Amino acid sequence: MNRLRMLLGMLLLSLLALGVACGPGVKGAVPTTGPVGEPTSRGDVAKGKTVYAGTCAACHGPDAQGVPNLGKDLVTSEFAKGLSDDDLVKFITKGRPASDPANTTGIDMPPRGGNPALKEKDLYDVVAYLRTLEK
Ligand code: HEC
Repeated sequence: MNRLRMLLGMLLLSLLALGVACGPGVKGAVPTTGPVGEPTSRGDVAKGKTVYAGTCAACHGPDAQGVPNLGKDLVTSEFAKGLSDDDLVKFITKGRPASDPANTTGIDMPPRGGNPALKEKDLYDVVAYLRTLEK
């Protein structure tokens, strides 16, 4: 029994040590991508390009550089760059209605770009595609 307690204690300590080792850079955030060594984007870039062209390009433009009075530039978007893939997928799922205080243009960003048929997987694909365009 004592042995078990000691083992548990050691496990706890090493978990704590791991937490500390993550350093201040990540501010205690849980890693949003898979185990170390996996590519940062889970999505499929080629499929994402198709999703983008079919749903997002109408407002964000064929090259994602935005269309006046429709959709913002996603190539230079500091907002998109600042989010993890998971959080960007969450954002696209919800959109940002004109009524949202965070809205910057007074124009709706519809949930899933207005295409309810898009699955979470499609959104990860489109995020992977957008990551290739970001500057
Ligand atoms: C009907 C037009 C429309 C469609 C379709 C659309 N968006 Fe948007 N999107 C917008 C508008 C308008 C905004 C800006 C909202 C605001 O003013 O804050 C926006 C904002 C965004 C932002 C945040 C950019 C920033 O810098 O704040 C991202 C990311 C985004 N859209 C991704 C997508 C993706 C991915 C798709 C396709 C799945 C998509 N959008 C489809 C209109 C659209």
